[in-house]
Amino acid sequence: MRVALLPGDGIGPEVVAEARRVLDAVTGGALAFDEALIGGAAIDATGTALPDDTTDACRRADAVLLGAVGGPKWDDPLSPVRPEQGLLAIRRALGLFANLRPVAPFPALADASPLKPERLAGVDLLVVRELTGGIYFGVKGTYGQPGRERARDVCSYTTEEIERIVRVGAEMARARRGRLTSVDKANVLETSRLWRRVATRVVAAEFPDVSLEHVLVDACAMHLVTNPARFDVIVTENMFGDILTDEAAVLAGSIGVLPSASLGAPNGVGQTRMGLYEPIHGSAPDLAGRGVANPVGTILSAALLLRHSLGLEREARLVERAVAEALADGARTADLGGSLSTREMTDAVMGRLEVRT
Ligand code: NAI
Ligand code: MG
Repeated sequence: MRVALLPGDGIGPEVVAEARRVLDAVTGGALAFDEALIGGAAIDATGTALPDDTTDACRRADAVLLGAVGGPKWDDPLSPVRPEQGLLAIRRALGLFANLRPVAPFPALADASPLKPERLAGVDLLVVRELTGGIYFGVKGTYGQPGRERARDVCSYTTEEIERIVRVGAEMARARRGRLTSVDKANVLETSRLWRRVATRVVAAEFPDVSLEHVLVDACAMHLVTNPARFDVIVTENMFGDILTDEAAVLAGSIGVLPSASLGAPNGVGQTRMGLYEPIHGSAPDLAGRGVANPVGTILSAALLLRHSLGLEREARLVERAVAEALADGARTADLGGSLSTREMTDAVMGRLEVRT
């Protein structure tokens, strides 16, 4: 099994190196790694944010682990090449359409969450966001006389786009607690009415063991702060998902501990899919090169990689449990009020891995 590593910029290389050590340890060295350039690092070396060599390395791999891209050095708004173009291009090249953001706040970090501990208890949810359609990618334009313009962004979805993302949501629900919440705005949007019909049909026909509910996006936004424990898997379209994932992320308290995955079509091996895995945080230029960044978001992204692209569920759980235990035992980087370095935090996680492997 082969994993492409795209460290990227800022703290990216520091956290990816640590997650690689964890992957090595938990698989007993069974993975082959290919490291390639993306983002600002790639622009500096080759003039483009996604060199062909990088795309090739990702296509050869079963999964991709990415750090982060971007930083002040490449922020010139006039420059035609920008680091985040690399991310968009690799997602497109790999056909990734499902963004997964699990949120399961660690009890040990409850202090850092804006929610009361009793509201956080039992929260373990997964948002599945459609990544390739909707209003972000529809026809758009600004028309008319200066000073009196009209602008528009068209939201459009096909049956096929809805089917494939609902299947991802339902598969995830099946592997978890069997509850799928489809979020839309079917009281006003035509795309949402199609979304609701397709979701109802796909789940009834292919996932009779999964229970499906429909929730309007505004109500969902409320439930996420008043009763987040009610959710198992949430599946939704691109823009609703963009907003709800950021809302859900703050429940965990720290941006440094949350993973994400972007998945494509099934790859023919069991339930696994090609995927790109990355922490939700950015390149944190303020911390870069100091060895103090929190590696947990990237380590948990590596756990998702084991689960969703390599089919190594047991190893994924070992990593997740080791992280939870390290945090419960008080291991903390500076963002969580502690003093461990990036490497020491990883050592704390790996120490809890070895006990069980
Ligand atoms: P950021 O996530 O890099 O940083 C926000 C704050 O969180 C900073 O105070 C940072 O020090 C802290 N932080 C982030 N990750 C951390 C970690 N692992 N451990 C401890 N503290 C951490 O977001 P920001 O500052 O808005 O963006 C910085 C650069 O990253 C920009 O160039 C931006 O474009 C890029 N970016 C890249 C993303 C990606 O590659 N997917 C996502 C978000 C931003
Ligand atoms: Mg966002």
